Amino acid sequence: MILVTGGAGYIGSHVVQELLKSGYEVLILDNLVCGHRDIVETVLKVPLIVGDIQDRALLREIFTTYPITAVMHFAAYAYVGESIQNPAKYYRNNVNGTLTLLESMVEASVNYFVFSSTCATYGIPQTIPVTEKELQRPINPYGASKLMAEQILRDFNRVYGLKSVCFRFFNAAGASVDGQLGEDHQPEPHLLPLVLLAALGQKDSVSIFGTDYPTPDGTCIRDYIHVLDLAQAHLLGLQYSLNGGENETFNLGNGNGFSIRQVIEMAQEVTETTIKVLEKERRLGDPPILVSSSEKARKILGWQPQYSDLKMMLSHAWQWHQRRHQPFTAGSTP
Ligand SMILES: NC(=O)c1ccc[n+]([C@@H]2O[C@H](COP(=O)([O-])OP(=O)(O)OC[C@H]3O[C@@H](n4cnc5c(N)ncnc54)[C@H](O)[C@@H]3O)[C@@H](O)[C@H]2O)c1
Repeated sequence: MILVTGGAGYIGSHVVQELLKSGYEVLILDNLVCGHRDIVETVLKVPLIVGDIQDRALLREIFTTYPITAVMHFAAYAYVGESIQNPAKYYRNNVNGTLTLLESMVEASVNYFVFSSTCATYGIPQTIPVTEKELQRPINPYGASKLMAEQILRDFNRVYGLKSVCFRFFNAAGASVDGQLGEDHQPEPHLLPLVLLAALGQKDSVSIFGTDYPTPDGTCIRDYIHVLDLAQAHLLGLQYSLNGGENETFNLGNGNGFSIRQVIEMAQEVTETTIKVLEKERRLGDPPILVSSSEKARKILGWQPQYSDLKMMLSHAWQWHQRRHQPFTAGSTP
């Protein structure tokens, strides 16, 4: 059985669905601060323990009650801006929470761990595309908290023999093909859902922070990776580790960057709406270009992304957003 922390959240829920398709038994641990009980109960239909990764007694109970062979760890806070305002919240949850989880695993002799880290650990990279060899110099507490967790993991590998695969991924995007799972954060910090919420009329406009970057259209370029491709990589990472693979770290991204303006233009095409755009000053700490190299994951894990096309990511996400956010009307199915 695989324990998925944060399995009621955006990426975790897609990974749970892929695990189920591959025949794994799954248990979710999520405190529902950002996760959705309805998604677990109506779509995933797996056992959900509502609780916190910092609750040592609960973890002990879980590991002694269920036959857990591996942990996939998504539970974290992941808002860059909030982390700058409230670093303690991030270090407590992302560092202390991960440490508590890892200690409980060691105590229970659970040996396999798949960790969601982030491109935010690189800060402002020197080389594009970003490989795993890039120096990690985070520029916000969110990135720093994930880097600390990576360091803890390396020490646990060394001392306790914990087997781990660590993924540093770029901007997750898209939704499940059937539109049953997708991104629903409150508040929503990510560009694609914000643009789609504007297309749905749930937001007045979309803000572009900085239009004078050294990029072809002056807006930042980011690497968007479909959540289903992320989920596939996590599954391959788990299997690799269970089959005796070395402890490894992999970047996961599309390899193609899209500018903020390109995303908005494509969203207008997909949704057949006009989205109001507000051009604002640059935000502190936004690198102009972030694009990943995922060659290592392709080579070692045999990962082959299926949904790299931006239009496809937006179409899947649009299907989900319409389903999730549009008011119920007579004759439609909720
Ligand atoms: N979304 C992205 O683009 C992105 C990019 C890089 C890395 N990541 C990482 O991927 C992971 C998942 O991200 P997401 O976008 O799905 O976030 P999310 O907020 O949708 O999911 C996180 C889940 O963890 C739960 N959670 C948080 N703290 C918890 C705790 N202490 N105990 C138990 N449950 C807790 C939340 O309720 C939520 O369901 C995070 O670790 C994030 O840092 C995300």
